[in-house]
Amino acid sequence: MAVKISKRIKDILAKDSKLMINTTKDKVPFVAARGGGDFAWDIDGNKFIDFSSFISVYNLGDEANKKIQEAITTQSKELIHAAFTDYYSEKPLQFAEKLMTMFPKGFGRTFFSNSGTEANEGALKLARLYSKRQYMFSFYGGFHGRTIGSLSLTVSKHRQREGFGDMFGPTLHAPYAYCYRCPFKLEYPSCGLACVDYIKKYPLSKEANPKDVAAIFMEPIQGEGGYVVPPKEFVVEMRKIADEHGILLISDEVQAGFMRTGKFLAMDNFGVEADIYTMAKAFAGGVPIGATVARNSLGNIPKGALSNTFGGNLVAIAAANASLDYIKKNESNLKSGISRKGKYIMTRLKDMLERYEIIGDVRGIGMMIGVEFVKDKKSKKPAQEERDKVIETAFYNNLLMLPCGESSLRVIPTLTMADKNIEEGMDILENAIKKVNGSR
Ligand SMILES: Cc1ncc(COP(=O)(O)O)c(C=O)c1O
Repeated sequence: MAVKISKRIKDILAKDSKLMINTTKDKVPFVAARGGGDFAWDIDGNKFIDFSSFISVYNLGDEANKKIQEAITTQSKELIHAAFTDYYSEKPLQFAEKLMTMFPKGFGRTFFSNSGTEANEGALKLARLYSKRQYMFSFYGGFHGRTIGSLSLTVSKHRQREGFGDMFGPTLHAPYAYCYRCPFKLEYPSCGLACVDYIKKYPLSKEANPKDVAAIFMEPIQGEGGYVVPPKEFVVEMRKIADEHGILLISDEVQAGFMRTGKFLAMDNFGVEADIYTMAKAFAGGVPIGATVARNSLGNIPKGALSNTFGGNLVAIAAANASLDYIKKNESNLKSGISRKGKYIMTRLKDMLERYEIIGDVRGIGMMIGVEFVKDKKSKKPAQEERDKVIETAFYNNLLMLPCGESSLRVIPTLTMADKNIEEGMDILENAIKKVNGSR
């Protein structure tokens, strides 16, 4: 194994568990020093191929990072914070205008915030204000954030909600179209979309009158829930249900958006337009920002209803602007690269699916790709221990990866990673899978 854990790193891990209230890290002892592109380095100088993009944040890679850094430096010397929510400022408005060109026609209003969860809080509030309805609807496996409003929509793992008592208002939930583990034990397409029937017959009939439902929140591809790609028809049906009952469709693009699937908006893969989109993560190349983007037809928002201190922060806007400029300038190269690299990763994984008993499913669009581990293909019993072992083995062989769902992992390199580094990363991943598969 190439990576050794030094005393310095062990001390940092111990200090972290003593000082930090955050409780989600436990998989690998990676202590970051540098990264953001094809590679990441820890503080001991160990070099890793990065298949995590630091939780879907470094989508664009080194060339874009340099431009983002320059934009941050220039702006920080001029003015960092312009109190954009109390005074006026030109740059956030110029950026908002540019941003709107990435959205369908009729989208012209945005709320800038600081994170994915805050972007979803904004969407929740807009949905209530616009519809004057109480109920929200979201899917099992969905992850929308951890502040109480967003957490009421998050039904990914019970430990995210445990101990917090009442959530925000009445929220309905139903199974997502997670076809590999269909809760109705059916197969697509012969199922006839039983999950859609269920939604119509139960939550949107027995539990609530659909006329009382403000919004359907959905990730076009579930991220934290396990990189679950629904059939196109499922997403189309959600739009139809929304239209039939005057419900808003809200696309949480925090993880799936910003080119990860080869399109700026992941929802576009399904030929569906939402009424509100939320974005964060890769939006400003690592600088905290969130955006809630709404149709003009949602109307005017009462003064004072949505605001914050840091929304529209000039450094965050400069970083987001540099990211968006990079996408606009390189769009066709980015798209063809994502398609080619995504196909290569999928082909390698599909081949592994044939050969290794512990791989149950591989799925994805563009470069948002997940692998689900099982005890064996027949029982499909989730193999969390095996998945963790794969991530750990890969780590000690210089590949950084992250888990998702109960027993899946994500393959999410930066979208511009060099083909040879993707190939090398896939070799390390395959060796790790082979080792864990063979040692059962
Ligand atoms: C789809 C989705 N929505 C919302 C969030 C919350 O974003 P943040 O952690 O920036 O609050 C996440 C975070 O992983 C996410 O994946």
